[in-house]
Formats: sequence, C-alpha cells, structure tokens
Amino acid sequence: MVEALHEARRRTFALVASVSEDDLERVHSPLMSPLVWDLAHIAAYEDLWLVHRFGERPLLREDLAAMYDAFETPRAVRGDLPLLNSAQARDYLDEVRERALEVIEERGIGDGVLHEMVLRHEHQHDETMLQTLLLARLDGYELAGRRTMPPSPNPTHTGLELIDIPAGECTIGADGDGFAYDNERPRHRNDVRGYLIGRTAVTNASYLTFVEGGGYQRREWWSDEGWAWKEEYDISRPGGWTADLTAEWRLGGLEPLHPDRPVVHVSWFEADAFARAHGARLPTEIEWEKAATWDQDREMARRYPWGNRRPAPGQHANLDQRGCGTAPAGAYPDGASAYGCLGMIGDTWEWTSSGFDGYAGFVAHPYREYSEVFFGGDYRVLRGGSWATRTRVATSTFRNWDYPQRRQIFSGFRIARSA
Ligand SMILES: [Fe+2]
Repeated sequence: MVEALHEARRRTFALVASVSEDDLERVHSPLMSPLVWDLAHIAAYEDLWLVHRFGERPLLREDLAAMYDAFETPRAVRGDLPLLNSAQARDYLDEVRERALEVIEERGIGDGVLHEMVLRHEHQHDETMLQTLLLARLDGYELAGRRTMPPSPNPTHTGLELIDIPAGECTIGADGDGFAYDNERPRHRNDVRGYLIGRTAVTNASYLTFVEGGGYQRREWWSDEGWAWKEEYDISRPGGWTADLTAEWRLGGLEPLHPDRPVVHVSWFEADAFARAHGARLPTEIEWEKAATWDQDREMARRYPWGNRRPAPGQHANLDQRGCGTAPAGAYPDGASAYGCLGMIGDTWEWTSSGFDGYAGFVAHPYREYSEVFFGGDYRVLRGGSWATRTRVATSTFRNWDYPQRRQIFSGFRIARSA
C-alpha cells in the first residue's frame, strides 16, 4: 500500500510537471476546477480519511477543510477562492503524506479499505485533471513516458457491427472479495432478455457519416430534451472536433481526425440520437456488464472482459494515461470478452441508457455522499473507463455517472438493439 501511494503521487506530479504556474491556477473550463484545486483537494481528502479519521489526529489544515470539500465548494465557485498556489499545494500534499505514512508506521492500515479508497481517489482525480488539461488545449503538453498507439486492426471496425448475446441469467455487480464501491454491491443475479450489442465503440468515421448525413438536423432522431439542449447550445459536432470536421483536439494539440478511433466527447443526448438514427439504442448498464463479463460456458462472471488477470496496458486495453488519447477501435484483440466484444475497458467511458441508482440491497459506505446522494435523479451511468483511467480503478463493475448533457469527460458509446 505504501508503494502504491508513492506511485500514485509520482503520477499526479508527472501529469502537471510540464504545466506552467499560470495554467495550474487558471480556470480553463467552467465545468472544471483549477488544477491547483484538485492538487490541494487530494491532500485534504487524504488528511481527512487517513490522518484524521483513521489516525485520530487533528487535521493539518482545519482552515482549508471547507474550501477543498467537494460538496461544500462546488466546481463553479472554485475559481473565485483564495486557493493555495501550486507551490503551497505541493507542500500541502507532501506534509499530509508524511503524516499519513507516520500513521501507517504506527498502526498499520487496518482492513485497508480506507487506504484503498484514498489511493483510488487520487487516481480518479488524475483522470479529472487530464480532462481539464485536454479542455485547456495546452499546446505542446507532454506526459513523460508516452506510449505509442497500436495500428488500426485489419479489417477496421466501425462500431456498427453487432454481436448477439443470448437471453439468460448472469451476475451483476462486485463480488465480496476485494475492494469495490458501495454502488457496485451487492452482487446479484439478473435475467436478461436476448439483445445485440456493438462489437466495439462507435468510431469517428461512423460518427462523421452521421454528422454529414444531417445527424444534428433531423429532429426525429432526437429526444425532446436532447433537441432542446442541442438547440440552446448550438451543438453540431463532438466537443473536440474542429468546425470543418477534419481534426480533433487531443492532449498536446490538434490532430487530424482519425477514422478508426472511438468518437469521444459526446453527450448522452448525442449518443442516443446516433443510436436512433441507426435503428438502435444505447445498452442498459446490465446489458453492458453482461457483454463485458459473463462467461456463458462456465456460468460465471469474469473480473475483466478477458479473464481475471489485472489489465496490462497496451496488451488488454488502452488504459493508464500514457497513451494520451484513444486507440483505434478493436486494437486490443487480447482484451476481448467471452462474447467477443472489444475495448469494453479503456479508451472511452461508454454511455448506457440507465439512470444511476442503487442495486436492491444497497448500503451506503463509507459515506452517503460517495454515491447515494446522486441516485434517482437525472444522472446516466457510464461504464468501462477511458484511456485516462488508471489500471487499478478500471474494473468491469465500476459505475461512473454524469448528466446527459455533459461532454467534458472522455465519453463515447456503443450501440445495442433488442433481439
Ligand atoms: Fe474528490
């Protein structure tokens, strides 16, 4: 655990190593915090859970607790606060970490759950920071150790090819072993009707055809809410595409639009309209999870689509940030699920049709604000993690959620159809 905490911190610092003071402290998008907020928030969270709650010591900086509490200080106002500057935020991170390690030295890590939670929290904020860094469109941004992308598979994928998933029971949710968030439990059986689901996520080429075929003009393909959103904000293409539809913003600059890469930075509304235009729909999250994990022959869920082995980035999936963007759809055949679906983990978060709610028997843990307060409303579930998700947190049962109009995240989708 100590080594994992050190490794997480090395990555956090690596992400911002090439970013100027000014860019760390500035608001780049109204939807995102200044990067220095994320840095100090990582420290405040670790201080609260590992030093104060677990170690029973006073907070290092009681005076900062409210400013760096995600609930008390929503994103929209974070840019107006007297935040720590980047040097102060780094010191805060170092000092809290020193105390957290002292506590571990003194009393171990107990059952390890709080430490795992804090570790994953840092991993997840690293992805959030990459969203901000991409939205900031910083020219020449570099992440050390950048991985080269695999070539497009031959033949290439479009996202329109569907795989038949037969009706039948499967298990959904995280098992009792190991760490999982409250909203992934309890594992339960679910009887799913037969359906078809995309072998891969929908690609830029397929989405471009939709755009050029009047995708944003054909009223009949849009839900009422989706159409109203599109009209109000004058949306006519994915978030990172240029107006001439030939290039997209990636980490470090503008690149020609790659036809085989999954489309990314689309809202749930856009994903839904694309699916309708193809006589399809988005999968429910249960359908998504069954296609990703269920091994019908052995009647058991796999931990990952390819089996129970931890993901090896670059072999099973495009994960862990160093790819600095999406890879061609289907480029990792070793990551196929038992049903033959590709790229379910990594590359892009995939929108599902499902609203975010607890499974039957849900129990909030360790606090209601982790997920319960988001239930029952307007959030839609996303699955599978993106290229910017760290390996440890990219699991087949992990549930992400966001508003259907949001596209600051690394969100794409695959389509489905009832059998
Ligand atoms: Fe957080």
